[in-house]
Amino acid sequence: TSGKALAGRHVLVTSGPTHEPIDPVRMIANRSSGRQGHALAAAAARAGAKVTLISGPVSIQDPAGVQIVRVETAREMLDAVEKHLPADIAIFAAAVADWRVADAKDAKIKKGQKGPPELSLVENPDILATIAGRKKERPKLVVGFAAETQDVVENARAKLQRKGCDLIVANDVSPATGIMGGGCNSVHIVSKQGVESWPSLAKEDVAARLVTLFAGMM
Ligand code: C5P
Repeated sequence: TSGKALAGRHVLVTSGPTHEPIDPVRMIANRSSGRQGHALAAAAARAGAKVTLISGPVSIQDPAGVQIVRVETAREMLDAVEKHLPADIAIFAAAVADWRVADAKDAKIKKGQKGPPELSLVENPDILATIAGRKKERPKLVVGFAAETQDVVENARAKLQRKGCDLIVANDVSPATGIMGGGCNSVHIVSKQGVESWPSLAKEDVAARLVTLFAGMM
C-alpha cells in the first residue's frame, strides 16, 4: 500500500443540487455549485481512497481520480448512494431539494385561462438520515453539512441529533458571506464531543483539512 491516509478506504460523497421536475421543461432547483463536495471527493482521492461521487447537475469539472455517478432528483440520489454501499466514510455535501412536486406532469403544462397551476409538494427522502440510521452497512463515519443563515452552531447541534450522523460541517450561507457558489468557506465542525471552528479557507483547503480529520477517525 501507498501509506496514504485513506489508502484502501471507500469514500462516498454526494454533491451539487438536485433537480425536481415540474413537467418535462420546468423544475425546482437550488444554487448549490457542487464546489465543496467535488473538492472533498478530489481530496479523498488524493489521500488514496477509492471515491464514489454521486453528483446532481453541476457545471464544474469532474474531479480527478473519482468514479462519478450523475443523478438529477433526490430519489435518484438516494438510490445511487444505497447501490454504492458499503463505504467507510459517507459525506453528504449535496444540497438536496427538501420537496418535490407531488405529480410531475409528463407533458408541458400549458399557460391557460384558469390562471397559474397549483403545485402541491411532498417531502423528499432525507438521504443523510436514511444512511445514518441504517443497521446494515452503516458507514463508520457519516458526515452531514448544514447550511444555515442564523444560529449556525446551535442548529448544527440539533441536526447532528436529529439525523444521527457523526459529524456536521456547518457554515453560514447568508448572502453577505459569499459562501454559496463562492471559492471560500468558513466552517464549524460539530460532533458530540464539541465544536471546532476553522478560519475562512479556500474550499479546496477546507476539503483537504476535513479529509485529514476524517482519516484520523478511521
Ligand atoms: O436539514 P438540512 O437539509 O439542512 O440538512 C443538510 C444535510 O442533510 C446535508 O448534509 C445534506 O446533504 C443532507 N440532506 C440529505 N437529504 C435531504 C436533505 C438533506 O442528505 N433530503
